[in-house]
Amino acid sequence: MGSISSISSLPFDEYIIPPSWRDRAIPIDDYKRICEESLRNIEEFWAKVAEQLKWFKKWDRVLDSSNPPFFKWFVGGELNMSYLCLDWQIEQGRKNKVALIWEGEPVDERGEPIEVRKLTYYDLWRETNRIAYALREKLGVKKGEIITFYCPMIPELATLLLATVRIGAAHSIVFSGFSAQALAERIKDAESRIVVTADGMYRRGRILRLKEIVDEAVKQCPTVEKVIVIRRVGLTDVHMEPGRDIWYSDLLSDVPRNVYVEPERMRSEDTLFVLYTSGTTGKPKGIVHDIGGYAVGLYATMKWVFDVRDDDIIFNSADIGWITGHSYNLYGPLIVGSTFIWYEGAPDYPAPDRWWSIIERYGVTIFYTSPTAVRMFMRYGEDWVRKHDLSTLRIVHTVGEPINPEAWRWYFRNLCRENCAASSTWWMTETGIILISHVPGIGLTPLKPGTNAMPIPGVEADVLDEDGNSCPPGVKGYLVIKTPWPGMLLTILKDPERYVKTYWSKFSKPDQGLWIFYTSDYAVKDKDGYIWVLGRADEVLKVAGHRIGTAELESALIQHPAVAEAAVVGKPDPVKGEVPVAFVVLREGYSPSPELEKELKEWVRKMIGPLAEPAEVYFVTKLPKTRSGKIMRRLIKAVIVGAPLGDITTLEDASAVEEVKKAYEELRRLVERK
Ligand code: WT7
Repeated sequence: MGSISSISSLPFDEYIIPPSWRDRAIPIDDYKRICEESLRNIEEFWAKVAEQLKWFKKWDRVLDSSNPPFFKWFVGGELNMSYLCLDWQIEQGRKNKVALIWEGEPVDERGEPIEVRKLTYYDLWRETNRIAYALREKLGVKKGEIITFYCPMIPELATLLLATVRIGAAHSIVFSGFSAQALAERIKDAESRIVVTADGMYRRGRILRLKEIVDEAVKQCPTVEKVIVIRRVGLTDVHMEPGRDIWYSDLLSDVPRNVYVEPERMRSEDTLFVLYTSGTTGKPKGIVHDIGGYAVGLYATMKWVFDVRDDDIIFNSADIGWITGHSYNLYGPLIVGSTFIWYEGAPDYPAPDRWWSIIERYGVTIFYTSPTAVRMFMRYGEDWVRKHDLSTLRIVHTVGEPINPEAWRWYFRNLCRENCAASSTWWMTETGIILISHVPGIGLTPLKPGTNAMPIPGVEADVLDEDGNSCPPGVKGYLVIKTPWPGMLLTILKDPERYVKTYWSKFSKPDQGLWIFYTSDYAVKDKDGYIWVLGRADEVLKVAGHRIGTAELESALIQHPAVAEAAVVGKPDPVKGEVPVAFVVLREGYSPSPELEKELKEWVRKMIGPLAEPAEVYFVTKLPKTRSGKIMRRLIKAVIVGAPLGDITTLEDASAVEEVKKAYEELRRLVERK
């Protein structure tokens, strides 16, 4: 199990065509020709897709490259995302079609769900208009302001988001697993005036008191004027700060049932949302996404990657707090007028077959999940899957981290009955949309266990060596995107310099007008041109598919009074892909103890959230460093995976070698003892 260990073990030469897809299969060379054709003129190519959407005003220019790398798509164009997701669908005859099937977590004694709600396009439109009215008329929400959401997956959240963007405001959704501290940091950066939350949420049968976390966060956030609270679990002892906090139901109580709010005419390059993600510094990055490019990119990938048809039922297991939730669990499904499922709770509650029962109950045809989830279900065993009829499935894709061939084979056999299109879709918070994947909606090239396949049409990707040359097949290098694409980030909120530096500096040659987007991923291409992403090339971990910067963890740790220095690296984990492991130097007066280890783990939970908790904490007397004081994570990582010390003679100062060797030995002894 675990993630991809070596390139030579990858099944480059396995070609699988599921029987039911035979008439949609296309040879690799045919697909390559489609891509080449699309790249001859990407503006023309993407304009053809954009023409399929409804614009209030057509664009003047498809791609504005006048100020690279600040590319802008469909400039001069005007549109509205809420309009496209709701009004436009109703205009196309989907008024009474079910848009959202919602299933709450709680179950009865037989294990059946107690709460199921089905909302049609008309239901969503009605509610969205009422909320839009309340936000604008009662709370004075202005175009361009950013509302922060810290919520469970409940239908009210969907309509609140659609209402927000209807009136031209933007959202910043913070995953409900983040701590008060992490939430506060994000609210402050976005300067939100309004925060939306719920009284609590269900998780594995327990109630998590969300509003209390918001109260703690908001204490540090002077910009916050209003907190909207959705009653989800019915807590009776929720503290409501007079003048600041308002129940969602009270906000809407006096809004007429049939109110209509005209969707704001937004410019294509206006902001739809900000989503925070981790980078290589302690400060999370607010990734800013546009409206026009994003809408076009989503529309295309829903059709190509998910091959969406009108009678599909989509189940995406991603939480709305991540980009996968934004793109393919809200806007994507709505913009193509499909039916999709939101499940509120834990995948293994009340038993490890909750997801399989959902697929069976609603006849899910398209399932989107993560490799970590697949590996977790592998552990539970196939009997849980076998109990259910999953024969409606025709597409099952994964996302978030590399999928090891063994996990791919397991789900291809047990979920797909070897008869679904099954792709590992590569993309990032920054890319907004899937960029590398099989595209069954265009034609299915052969599947290979664990590959990401090729870029979608209209997108050019490559694997480069350190000098920027294309790597030959089988040679590991850096994954880059060589063309701007619709859906790409606009910038990093309040930090355009960091945007340029992080993504456009490593390989671009501005003097030659060459702009290359650096993904921070390692990848390898095979002789067919299939791309296999291997993992991050920077100091960012993927823990159960969630992105966590080691610098964020380190900065949290050193804020604890006992900690003088800290270094965090990822350790391979059979289920989660990798988990954080911390090496800590204590301050004078503190000594190592199991209690302190526990305390530091809890500290990280408190500072960032449960998802960031180190699996292990090692107390050391010194950390291996270069003479210039940089912590040698490569070396710590070598210790963790049991690799030899390797070449440390490249250190700029030889006198550090002995020191480093000593530190290495100390670490090794510690790690071996555990
Ligand atoms: C990083 C981006 C975009 C959805 C969720 C993750 C890794 C993502 C794959 C895949 C191998 C993948 C990369 C990337 N990643 N999908 N199919 N195969 N790696 O978004 O949190 O912004 O993380 O996830 O390392 O850089 P994110």
